[in-house]
This record gives sequence, C-alpha cells and structure tokens, in this order.
Amino acid sequence: QINEAEVVLFSVPSYACQRRTTLDNHNVTLTDALSLLAENAELSDEDGRGVAFRRAAAVLKALPAPVTAMSQLTGLPCLGDHSLRVIKDILENEASDEVESTKQSDRFKALKVLTGIFGVGSKTADRWIRDGIHNLHQLQESGATLNRAQQAGLEHYNDLNQQVTKAEADAITEIVQEAVVSVLPGAQVVLTGGFRRGKQTGHDVDFLITHPEEGREVGLMPKVVFWLESQGFLLYQKTTRNSYLEVKDGPGRPSSNMDRFERCLSIFKLAKKEERGIKVTVNTVKTRDSWRAVRVDLVVSPISQFAFALLGWTGSKLFERELRRWAGHEKAMSLSSHALYDNKQSRYLRAASEEEIFAHLGLEYIPPSERNA
Ligand code: GTP
Ligand code: MN
Ligand code: MN
Repeated sequence: QINEAEVVLFSVPSYACQRRTTLDNHNVTLTDALSLLAENAELSDEDGRGVAFRRAAAVLKALPAPVTAMSQLTGLPCLGDHSLRVIKDILENEASDEVESTKQSDRFKALKVLTGIFGVGSKTADRWIRDGIHNLHQLQESGATLNRAQQAGLEHYNDLNQQVTKAEADAITEIVQEAVVSVLPGAQVVLTGGFRRGKQTGHDVDFLITHPEEGREVGLMPKVVFWLESQGFLLYQKTTRNSYLEVKDGPGRPSSNMDRFERCLSIFKLAKKEERGIKVTVNTVKTRDSWRAVRVDLVVSPISQFAFALLGWTGSKLFERELRRWAGHEKAMSLSSHALYDNKQSRYLRAASEEEIFAHLGLEYIPPSERNA
C-alpha cells in the first residue's frame, strides 16, 4: 500500500506559455506515446484531437519528476479521459495497445513514409493512399505528378529524413552569415527554431535575418538566394513574399511596411565535415558522397517586427499556439509573428525584445531553452 503522504503531487499552470519546459523530460515514454497519437491525429486531419494530445504531452514534459502513479495527476490541466487512459495503460502494462496498434497500422506507416517527402502534406498522402500508393517505390511507379518541391523531396529523401546535427547547423550558420553580410553589410542573422531552444538535433535549420536600420532589409532575400545559388549551396529554393499588412496608427510611417516579410524554404547542399574547408565562400564539393542535403528556412523581417518574428519562429509549435491562445482568450489581444494588437485599446503594442512582448501579455519571461513544450 502506498502511503498517500509519500506520493509526489504535481501542479502546473494550464497554458504552456506559463510554464518552463526544458529539454530535460522526465516522462519520455509517456510523452512519446501521446505525441505519436497526436501525430496520427494530425496526419488524419483531426487537428482538434491532435492538439489535445499535444497539450497533454506538454503537461507531462513540464513535470519535475517521472509519473509513477495516476493519483499524482489529480488536478493537472489538459489531461482528458483519452490521454489519462493511455497514461494508465503505460503505467500499468508498460505499453498502450492503442499506441502499439497505431504504430503498426499500414495506414499510419504509409502516411509517415509519404509525408516524410518534403512538400507532401497529409491531404496529398491520403489521396495517394486511396490510390493504392503506400511507399516510395509505388509512388515512383504510379506516374503521379509531383511538383518541384516534391521532386526535390523525393530525390533527397534519405538525407532529409536524417536529423540535422548542431555541428551541421553551425556550419550552415556560417554560410548564411557569409551570404547575408556579402549582399548587405550590417545585416544580422539569428538561428531560430529548435536549435535556438538548445536542441542538439532538428529536422531543419531556421534563420531570421534583419537589419538594424528599418527599410534596409527590403529586397534582401532575392540577393541572399542569388548569392547562395551562384556559390552552389542550393539544391532547391522557393521564396514567398508574405502579404502581411499592418494598419499604421501613427503618422509619418511609410506604407511600405506591407509585403516585407519574406520567407525562403530551401534545401542546402552541405559539404560533409571532412570536406568542409576553413573558408566557406565557395562550395567546392563534387562527388555525391561528399555532401548531404539539409532543409533550411530563411525569414527576413524588418527591425520593427523583429522581436515578434523572433518569438514566432523560435517555437516550439505548441508554445507558439499557447501564446496566441493566451493572448486571445486571457488578454483580448492578437499575437502574430508581426505584431501584437490590443483589442480593448484598439492599438498595436510595440516591442523591441521578446521580454517586452511577454510583459505586454502579462506573462513571466520564459527564455528559449524553457520553451520546449
Ligand atoms: P525541428 O525543426 O523539428 O527541430 O523543430 P522546430 O521547432 O525548429 O520546428 P520548425 O522548424 O517546423 O518551426 C520553427 C518555428 O517556426 C516554430 O515555432 C513554428 O511555429 C514556426 N513556423 C513554422 N512555419 C511557420 C509559418 O509558416 N509562419 C510562422 N509565422 N511561423 C512558422
Ligand atoms: Mn526547425
Ligand atoms: Mn523550419
């Protein structure tokens, strides 16, 4: 019999953006199980269920010790009946039948393989599965039309499904920095995404680029892309202009603030470690086994929106979602990667740092390394 007094009771606030979630997860088995069910739901276009499992997993990630008894979970937020059932099964039987059978299911396996192709989302994968396509071989034989992204994704499938290391992210940071200062001296490059949160591996490398003088960043992305392309660093790229339009409330602000946020989804050709020289200005790799493909996201932001862009692109995805939910539901504000709008005051709230945005939102500041919800 367990002595009630010895059971550690946990308590966490309900929004992930109110909690500190480090990479030190004491409940990996449980959070992996719930994350797999979340992924399965998302791949099946059941986003509501997906978020519910993500929130449940995030609560367990924030606990200071492993869960050993269901009684410890009393009063914790975001743990619905379904998630509690899965946790109970794992605590009692070391595994959840639902998780195991999902993992083994042909449909889940096919969805994983097909959406593992860069450029393929759950809708496309689902359509292919209904046409009897379950693997890459069947896809290639099917004669299905692939867009440019999907073709590149298929071509570099193995490389892109291999985790990017911190060392590779650092090597790519050097290349991007070289590109950016070559085309616009004074411009700044910041590593965002999972690597900024302290992760040692990731599925891609994310960068945010800006210039301390407002307006100087205009037209920067095509120049950076041209530099990278001419130096042989790009295997694929697609640049999209963001159509964000902020209604200016003060006088003297140029309307040119619209359409400025640019984003480039790319695939880099990165020399393998032993091939990387000291200077990174020219990609000299030749043979196929001397380089590998790495997904890289580039975003350009004007300095006036930089703090919002930095916060928005650092993640985690759930942390971002929770920040926006907190802003909307608790503060009557709308948060995006561009701005924070206060619906009660009917005005935008400026911020020059992430700390100021948390303060506007009435939240304690959470540093990137503790946003791993
Ligand atoms: P790994 O790459 O798997 O290590 O994880 P990650 O956290 O870096 O994820 P990812 O690269 O997918 O995204 C990084 C951040 O960018 C996350 O916070 C996302 O919410 C954010 N993000 C991704 N796509 C978009 C987008 O289209 N718009 C905005 N505003 N943010 C995005
Ligand atoms: Mn990333
Ligand atoms: Mn990314």
